Amino acid sequence: MAVAADRLTDAIARFVEANPESRRLHEHRRRVMPGGNTRTTIHADPFPLTIVRGEGARLWDADGHEYVDFLGEYTAGLYGHSHPAIVAAIREALDDGLVLGAPNRYDTALAEQVCARFPSVDLVRFANSGTEANLLALGLACAVTGRPKVLVFEGAYHGSLLLFSHGASPLNPPIPFVVAPYNDPESAVRVVREHASELAAVIVEAVQGAAGVIPADPEFLRALRDAARDAGVLFVLDEVMTSRLAVGGMQSVLGLDPDLTTFGKFVGGGLSFGAFGGRRELMERFDPSRPDALQHGGTFNNEVLTMAAGAAGLAVLTEAEIARLNGLGDRLRDRLNGTGAEFQATGRGSMVGLHFTRAAIRSEHDVPDTPELRTLLHLHMLERGWSYGRRGFVALSLPLGEEEIDGFAAAVREFLAV
Ligand SMILES: Cc1ncc(COP(=O)(O)O)c(C=O)c1O
Repeated sequence: MAVAADRLTDAIARFVEANPESRRLHEHRRRVMPGGNTRTTIHADPFPLTIVRGEGARLWDADGHEYVDFLGEYTAGLYGHSHPAIVAAIREALDDGLVLGAPNRYDTALAEQVCARFPSVDLVRFANSGTEANLLALGLACAVTGRPKVLVFEGAYHGSLLLFSHGASPLNPPIPFVVAPYNDPESAVRVVREHASELAAVIVEAVQGAAGVIPADPEFLRALRDAARDAGVLFVLDEVMTSRLAVGGMQSVLGLDPDLTTFGKFVGGGLSFGAFGGRRELMERFDPSRPDALQHGGTFNNEVLTMAAGAAGLAVLTEAEIARLNGLGDRLRDRLNGTGAEFQATGRGSMVGLHFTRAAIRSEHDVPDTPELRTLLHLHMLERGWSYGRRGFVALSLPLGEEEIDGFAAAVREFLAV
């Protein structure tokens, strides 16, 4: 599908014309933030929309346009923008004061819920982001094994300091990473064996989110887990995104039993959040009463609003609700695949990736580089009131229903003219 240059120019011109206030705010921001941005993920040329309000699965921008939210804050917005149980929990916690500087009752409630949902998590610790949770899990792995290296996979995104998309980010910390191809069990097993004596951990996503919402083959994950076990290498499952796909996360679906698991996103109820947890003998190294205790501070690790919101959210996130949302994701893929167009929807459950190819996508290398088509589709969808991530990222939220799924799919199909 080729893009005529004037088609893109026209679409951008219409976008600029329709969004003067978002443009003005972007220009204003540029004076104090690089490129007007403090989170690269949410930048989109020529400028991103400034969103001023959200309610349920609806968003409004600074120029008064309304959108149905199919981005779901890159999976953190699972509950939508104003879930009554979460709003009530935040209000209640707020009334009892912020920055208490001590253990509080909300951290206990959330820790109990996390440990109950994820049987591999005997003990959990909280942090402020998924990035931090992953860094802490890897730090713990290096400390307990006494080994320096970590195995990661091409295309992985474990946070802003752990990015391995088309090469490693220069911002990554100086950990000696070994990088192997995703979804290739033979090479993963070989690399684990080759580096066994130096590898502290392997970290992997059961669905690579940022790379294009690419599910791992269960055999790849199981082979990796088995090889890691045999070599005394800790198996760390990054469930920052995928924990939304089942009550017990993808580990429960695939029977993975990781040594350590990391969380973030919706588990904090929509507030800043990260967590890592796992086997008791590993996590107990943080017990402050031990003479060899590892130090792990963090001013906001048990910040009351996040703890309260997270616990209230998990309490309403039943297996049935998750199944309904995953069903909506399947419905969307069903409506978008097999159309005959050079297009496909990937993913699993409520996580969906949109790509301009019909060929199988099993790693970041299979994702076609089609920035113009991605921009055109995104602008087409925004014009019709559908919001999602320009790179083709869709994460469904609880307030959505079949009507919205069908409307979104119809608007994509209109673009594809199928
Ligand atoms: C799989 C995965 N791990 C870790 C992170 C980092 O989480 P945070 O943005 O909270 O640092 C992300 C964020 O998108 C993610 O998708």
